This record gives sequence, structure tokens and C-alpha cells, in this order.
Amino acid sequence: MSSTQSREEQPKCVNLKVVAQLSGVSIAPVSNVITGRKYVSPEVTQRVLEVVQQVGYTPNQIARSLKKRRTTFLGGMVPDITNPFFAEIVRGLESVALENGFQMFLYNTDGDVSRENTILKSFIEHHVEGIVNVAPRMSEEKLYSFVKSRLVPMVVVDRPVSFDDPFFGLVYTDNVTASSKLALHFLQKGHKSFACLAGPLIVLNVCDRISDFVGELRRLSVPQSSIFVLYGEFKFESGFRLMEELLEFENRPTAVFACNDLMAWGAMEAAKRRGFSIPKDIAIAGFDNVFFAELMNPSLTTINQEKFGAGVIATQILLEIVNARKGKVPIGAESFVRKVTLQADLIQREST
Ligand code: RIB
Repeated sequence: MSSTQSREEQPKCVNLKVVAQLSGVSIAPVSNVITGRKYVSPEVTQRVLEVVQQVGYTPNQIARSLKKRRTTFLGGMVPDITNPFFAEIVRGLESVALENGFQMFLYNTDGDVSRENTILKSFIEHHVEGIVNVAPRMSEEKLYSFVKSRLVPMVVVDRPVSFDDPFFGLVYTDNVTASSKLALHFLQKGHKSFACLAGPLIVLNVCDRISDFVGELRRLSVPQSSIFVLYGEFKFESGFRLMEELLEFENRPTAVFACNDLMAWGAMEAAKRRGFSIPKDIAIAGFDNVFFAELMNPSLTTINQEKFGAGVIATQILLEIVNARKGKVPIGAESFVRKVTLQADLIQREST
């Protein structure tokens, strides 16, 4: 086939061999021009690139993966991508994956453990090189047995994990300090009765938030009878429903800590629809500092935790482990940090 043939006359499957024939060279220099792995003379490089453009050659990643028995796939799993908190983490994951030539499979777990297992199985079947697992709810034992299987390296985000392993990384926010700071903030505003709208207790950082918010209030001599904890889900509707319940209390609390911003938004809407003024009648704070927190009316006091940055750091750790696994760095001897704790800060706005 001549290099002058029109594109429609060219064979459907344009592979390295065809490009080499059209360029009048062997396959090795063509592969080196495309991968940049070895030097090729400017003349040959120019000729190969012209042919590549003429015939519209694109490397077949699947064929390359089969040959090298490695892929350029990463797996990402989050509870709910419609929650801006997780969406921002995914943006961080995606940016590092793209920068390093990886593609991503992304799934929502809906906080369902059996779904988490199905997704992990799918990642193994598709030979992903590594997994970023955000806020998993499966037991620590199950997580550890997956990591020990040495099937795929994993980095967990947004959940405390006690085990350590060269195939494992962790990015977790300090929920404790921030929740205590919020308790002090409410007291400094003169509040005497408090409520915590908690997310699902299976989420371990919810336990941290509640225990440290309540613990700080009790440490500062607030009687237990002035502290109420109601349990729901990390959803707008749940915050709305719990606030409606709270507003029926005889000695209604005046300071409310919702365990994430979606719950805080729902709680604020419920209070406003019942004619309460925020923060005059009832002060409300959230957790996450997602993009809408400052846009709410009144703007939401909340606790900021890293989102995009958490996704970036988690994926960087994962790729360090993946490279170590490829023998570029002896497993376990790596110098990089595999466990990172991020700080959370109180962001005071109009709602308190
Ligand atoms: O908004 C989702 C919540 O669940 C966040 O607070 C995050 O920490 C996760 O645990």
C-alpha cells in the first residue's frame, strides 16, 4: 500500500507494522518515535510522524495491555458522586490519573457493602493497576484481607483504618479537633442547648464527630440533658426531616451541628419554612465546606475538609505503590509516605 493512497482505501486496522511499511523503516524505530523510549533520528521521526498523521494511527491500548500484561486503568469508588464532597475528590483523582497516562473506572457504592464487593471484583477482572476507595463501609477485616491478597494496591480516603501494609495507603481528615472547635464556637455564641444531626453511625468519622462535639460540650460543663443527638443519612432530605423533628421538642435546642453540609442545608430549609430566623432563633453548622455552603442564605458555618487535594494525594500515593509493585522501587523500602492526615478548619459564616 503506498503512502499516497487516500484514507478510505487504507486498511481498517492500521497498526505499527503498517506505519513501519509506509515509513520504509522497521517496527522498532516507529515504536520508539511513538513511545519516546529511545532516540530516533530527526529524519526518521519526521517521516514516521507524517505517516502516523496521514493514516490516522492511534496506539491500541488494549493490545498493548495484553502484550505487557499490565493496563493503564485505575479504579475509583465513592459512595455518591452527586454529593459535591465526593465529586471534588474524584476531580483530584482524575487529574493525577490523566497526568500520568491512566484511565479511570468510576463507580458509586451507595454506601452498600455488597455493592462495594461487586465493584472490587469488577476492578480485578478489568486488571486495574490500583484502587482509590473513598469512604468504604466494609469491615476493616474485609479491607485488610483484600489488601493482603496482593491482587491490587489500594488507597482508602475519608475513613480511619488501623492496619498498615506496603500495598496500602490512607488519606484521612482529623475530624476530632474540628468538631471540638465547633462546640466551643457555639458556647462562645452563648448557646445553652445543642443538637447533633448525625450521619450513619457505620461511617466511622461520624462517630468521631459526634463523640468529640458532645465530648467537648461535656468537658465545658454542658449537662447531658442539654445535648440531643438524632441519627439520619448524609442527605438533604434527612437533615430536613430531623430538623422538623427537633422543632417539635419542648425545650428546642438553639445550636445545631449537622454532620455534613447537605444535612445542614436540609435542616436550614426546614427551619426557615417554619418561620424560624437563622441564626437568631436557631444556629446551624455543617461539615465539608462544599461549594454551595457559602452561597446559602444565610451562608453556612461549616468545617472545611480537603476534597480535591485529598483525591490528588490519594492517587499520588497509589501510583507510588503501583510503581514500587512494578519493581521500580522495592516494595516496603519506598521512601514515600503512604498514610497522610489532613487538617480540618472551622469556617465561621452567617448561619451561627
Ligand atoms: O458528605 C459526605 C460525608 O461523608 C463527608 O462528611 C465525608 O467525610 C464522608 O464521610
